[in-house]
Amino acid sequence: MISSRKAKKSAKSEKKVKRKVIKNFIQVKNITKNYSLGEVEVKALDNVSVSINRGEIVSIVGHSGSGKTTLLNLIGALDYIDSGTIIIDGQDLSKMNDRELSFLRRETIGYVFQNFNLLEEINAEKNIEMPLILSKKLKEERRAKVEKLLESVGLLERRNHKPDQLSGGEQQRVAIARALANDPDIILADEPTGNLDSTTGEKILKLLIDLSKEYEKTLVYVTHDKEQATLASRQLIMTDGVIAKDFSE
Ligand SMILES: Nc1ncnc2c1ncn2[C@@H]1O[C@H](COP(=O)(O)OP(=O)(O)OP(=O)(O)O)[C@@H](O)[C@H]1O
Ligand SMILES: [Mg+2]
Repeated sequence: MISSRKAKKSAKSEKKVKRKVIKNFIQVKNITKNYSLGEVEVKALDNVSVSINRGEIVSIVGHSGSGKTTLLNLIGALDYIDSGTIIIDGQDLSKMNDRELSFLRRETIGYVFQNFNLLEEINAEKNIEMPLILSKKLKEERRAKVEKLLESVGLLERRNHKPDQLSGGEQQRVAIARALANDPDIILADEPTGNLDSTTGEKILKLLIDLSKEYEKTLVYVTHDKEQATLASRQLIMTDGVIAKDFSE
């Protein structure tokens, strides 16, 4: 009797609990970012506001220099705004100290870059494990997580390969797995398919979107490819430092 009740309880706890949709999980309010190069002042972002709910899949497109990377880097706390406010999961980035910002970068956000940014000296498995080591996760937990992620990105057979022994698409799979390792709420990807041929690029983006949905992540990605942009449930189009259009499904 007791054991069957226990079994039921554990089955229930193992069942995936659907996370509540949180509106305005990412809030960008009237932000401005200028860069000055000598005498020249570049308005990279000009009073930009946008709110993104938890679990949304958002693409950003726009011509070169329109401010896509700047916006993504500011949301990802990789750079500082000049004015305005960015609130992530209720936390105002400008009010956070360095320690809190590092914690946010490590635990709340996963990053995927155009050039993969893998550590060249270590293999796929270790690259994926790295954020878990930095978060001081125990060995058993790290091992189980890495195994699951290697499987999710289809790289169990390539686990011992170093980045230079992997194709571009495979390297980006490793980078995606690494971004998911600490189970962050948000994945930010700046042209994740920019260094890949179009067929591989589409596969990788679909994988990123599928895994973001499966693990209930909020995904914001930048792309130059109009087809790839339409795979998102919402598209932001940037022009000259502003969000000129915001399309939802
Ligand atoms: N570190 C910097 N110093 C000076 N100007 C910069 C710097 N970073 C970006 N800019 C300028 O800010 C503007 C926006 O740049 P950003 O990199 O956000 O554009 P982007 O939309 O990502 O372009 P791309 O599609 O080419 O990647 C550009 O005019 C760029 O020249
Ligand atoms: Mg860019």
